[in-house]
Order: sequence, then structure tokens, then C-alpha cells
Amino acid sequence: MSDTLLILGASGQIGNELTQKLREIYGNKNVIASDIREGNEEMMNSGPFELIDATNKVQILKVIKKYNITQVYLLAAMLSATAEQYPQKAWNLNMNSLLAVLGLAKEKHIQQIYWPSSIAVFGATTPKENTPQNTIMEPSTVYGISKLAGEFWCNYYHDKYGVDVRSLRYPGIISWKSKPGGGTTDYAVDIYFKALKEEKYTCFLSENTRLPMMYMDDAVDATIQLMQAKSSQVKVRTGYNLAAMSFTPKEIATQIKKHIPDFEISYQPDFRQQIADSWPQSIDDSKAREDWNWQHQFDLASMTKDIILNLKKHQ
Ligand code: SER
Repeated sequence: MSDTLLILGASGQIGNELTQKLREIYGNKNVIASDIREGNEEMMNSGPFELIDATNKVQILKVIKKYNITQVYLLAAMLSATAEQYPQKAWNLNMNSLLAVLGLAKEKHIQQIYWPSSIAVFGATTPKENTPQNTIMEPSTVYGISKLAGEFWCNYYHDKYGVDVRSLRYPGIISWKSKPGGGTTDYAVDIYFKALKEEKYTCFLSENTRLPMMYMDDAVDATIQLMQAKSSQVKVRTGYNLAAMSFTPKEIATQIKKHIPDFEISYQPDFRQQIADSWPQSIDDSKAREDWNWQHQFDLASMTKDIILNLKKHQ
């Protein structure tokens, strides 16, 4: 039997681009997009779409049965900065959606799950450079707590019930087609839009705040590669460390200046600085590279060139 995929949270930053790529690979009609709000025109017109609240197991099961879904990609989540404003709501969304989908796999309604984790699982006591796969994890944000708990729920359902659930600890994801919302790494997306429009940007993190980041193309490839790997290759059932590049606001500004010489950056750190300061600066992802041959394509220079080219073309 061929695979039929359900994407929960398809209208978000990653969901949007991942859905389009999966539709290219699996065929439009075999990739069902869903969210609590409608997606953009491309998503709504290129294949099936269902309105689903990702925390509602009954609603999810109805759609699973309607389309004979075999795999669920659960991308609905509240990100780090917004979650600090709405801690209880964030916990409910991030946890209840995961437990609903894990339950559906345990009950054999679906065969495979993808669920993203994040560098937010780490905290101030974690080694900051080349953060290992297995290390101290004491997250200080609600988002990080939910991702760490979620990782261990995934591992538990895998060990206890044989659920095939796979997860990546995404760094900050940078894209130009779809914008993130409510994350601490969002500045690295906003900066490109502002650079093109106004040639200046005020950054909410300080100039030397180094964080792990990744271009959307690489994040989408990693996700699909992990999901297509043989089950025996997927040895980590919490979340895989995943990396491509690390940079500071000052360094991204320097790269942008190469294309937009008049670009100027200023700094006004807010509450997100504290979140960023608790996260690693760089990640050791050798386990992902060994287990299922992960390789990234983009670094800061090639990503900046690609984004500016595309934004110029499409705006
Ligand atoms: N990009 C996310 C955030 O900033 C990290 O997973 O919240």
C-alpha cells in the first residue's frame, strides 16, 4: 500500500513548505494539509485541505479514516516567545496534540509519525558549543519544557508500544516563502524582509548572540530523509541533534551588506535575549550524519544570496 500523509499545522512556517515538497514527492492527492486556519492559495489549490484542531483526537481520527492516512506530520505548536506569554495554552497545544497522535499510532490507526523537537530542549547548564546529542537538559522556557517532555513521550511510545515516531531538534529555521511566528530566532527571517524594504533593521537580540540556524530547504530535506530512512537506521527515538550553521546578528548583517551595501542594523534586546542566552551556540549533529547520512547544503553566505535573489524576484 502506498503512503497517504496528513500534515497537522500545515499553514505554519515549516508546514507550508514541507507540504508542498511532500506533494511533489507523494502526489498532491496523497498529502492532506490541515490546520485550524486555511493555508495560502498555493496550498489550498494544490491538494486536499481539512480544518482540524490538532489537540482534538476525534477530529484527527475522522480525517485519518476518510483518507486512509498512514503517516502523520504533527507541526502544530506554539513557539518559544509566544509560549512565555501563554504558558498554559502553549503546554496544552504542544502536549495534547502529541499525545493524541501518539495514541492514534498505538491504536494502529497510523503507521508513522513525525514530530519536531527543538534546540529549546537545552538550557543554561548545557555545554554551549558543539552541544552533544546526550547532555544536560534543563530548559527554562515553557516551549523547551514541552519539547523535552514530548521527546520522552515519543521514546516511551516507541519502547513500550512499538510506535514508529521520529523527531529532529530543529535549530532556528530561516525561510522567505513563509514567515515564522512567535519564535526567538525569528529575527533572522525578519531581517531579510526589512533589509530589502527599508535598508535597516532593529534586532531584538544583541549583536554577538550566536545561535544555531538552518535554511528551510535543508530543514525540509532533513525531515523527509529521516521519515524515509529504514526504521533500523533511526536509532534515536527522543530527538536527533541537527545542524547546518551558527551565526550572530552582526554576522548576518555583514553578509546582507554584501548585497545591500547601505543596510544598517541596530540593537534593542528585549525578553527574548534571555531565552537566546539559555540556548546552545552550536550543535554536534554527528549522530544524524552517521545514522541516516544527514548532510546540509546551505551556509550563511549561500543562504543569504538565495534569499535575497528570491525576495527580489517575488516582491
Ligand atoms: N525557532 C524556535 C523558536 O525560536 C526554536 O525552536 O522558538
